[in-house]
Order: sequence, then structure tokens, then C-alpha cells
Amino acid sequence: EGDLGSDLDRVLITEAEIQAKLHELAKQIDADYAGQDLLLIGVLKGAVMVMADLARALSSPVEMDWMAVSSYGSGTKSSGVVRILKDLDIDLAGKHVLVVEDIIDSGLTLSWLLRNLKMRQPASLEVFTLLRKPEAVQVEINVRYVGFDIPNEFVVGYGLDYRQRYRNLPFVGTLAQHVYQ
Ligand code: PRP
Ligand code: MN
Ligand code: MG
Repeated sequence: EGDLGSDLDRVLITEAEIQAKLHELAKQIDADYAGQDLLLIGVLKGAVMVMADLARALSSPVEMDWMAVSSYGSGTKSSGVVRILKDLDIDLAGKHVLVVEDIIDSGLTLSWLLRNLKMRQPASLEVFTLLRKPEAVQVEINVRYVGFDIPNEFVVGYGLDYRQRYRNLPFVGTLAQHVYQ
């Protein structure tokens, strides 16, 4: 651990591919929410990078708020136990809300979060995720915007961590075996 170069196995999605996809989806969001106020909710900490880049690719002055929940703990698997570590500051009642995630893996985090947010009576509630894994398709979550469907491998970078590290990679990749040992 420590050296990014030797810790990486391979790049799955390049920085340029991520940025191109975000700009393409931002155009769709601009069109879909034309004339409406939009509130982006970023799910800390993983969604920090995608939230920052997506928001800057939009052409309207959106509101941004953050919620911190955790399901992975410190390992590589979702525990199913979702905890609110930080709640929203903004009242959702009557607002058009778009939840921004870095990845939907088992879908447990998001299905729990959507149920929680729905009770706060937003005018609309949609989901944006940069990455989606195969298992997530089984969960009944209506995801309006998906960046990339990826294979069932543990990925890091662009917000995604392994033991809180590698979030600062500008791309999405996989780690070498030795990192996990
Ligand atoms: C990760 C990821 C998603 C969630 C996806 O967050 O950022 O929020 O897990 O997993 P699921 O679909 O199986 O529930 P994590 O709990 O690791 O917290 P973090 O964003 O702070 O890394
Ligand atoms: Mn997360
Ligand atoms: Mg994590």
C-alpha cells in the first residue's frame, strides 16, 4: 500500500470517458428539468467527485446538499446496515430532488435512502449514479440516469474507496491482489 502505480491492476473507465459521460447526462438533466428548480443530494463520501463534476456540467443554478450514510463499513462488501452519519440541511418538501451516487452495488443503500427521502415529501425524486453493478438490477430501484454498467468486480477511484483510500484517483479501476492481503 502507498504507491498508486503498483497498487493498481487496471483502469476500467478513464478520466476522459467519465467526463464525456457526465457532460452527456448533464445535457439530459438540463432538458428534463428545464424551468424547474433542482436540488442535488450527494451521498457522502463516495459521490463527492461525481457530484462536483456533474454539477459544474449543468447549466442551471442548482441547489446542492449532502447526506452521509454508510453501508460498506471498512471492507469490500455491503453489510445491509445503513446508518445516517450526517442528515440534510435543506427541507425537501415540494422540491425536485435528484440523488447523486457514485455506485449502486447491492442497491441496499439506495433503496433504504429513497424510502427515507420519500417520507419528506419532495415534488419529485430521481436517481443519478455513475456506476451500476449487475446485482443492483434485481433491486426495484428506478434509476433515471446511469453512467456505466460495470461487471461485478470491486472498483476504486473517482470517489470510490478501499479502506478509505484511492478516492482521489481521477479514473475508475481495480486494485492489485497484493493490496487486499
Ligand atoms: C458505497 C458507495 C454507495 C454504496 C453502494 O458507500 O459509495 O454509496 O456503498 O453499495 P450498495 O448498493 O451495496 O448499498 P460506502 O457505504 O462505502 O460509504 P462511502 O461512500 O463513504 O465510501
Ligand atoms: Mn457511498
Ligand atoms: Mg466506501
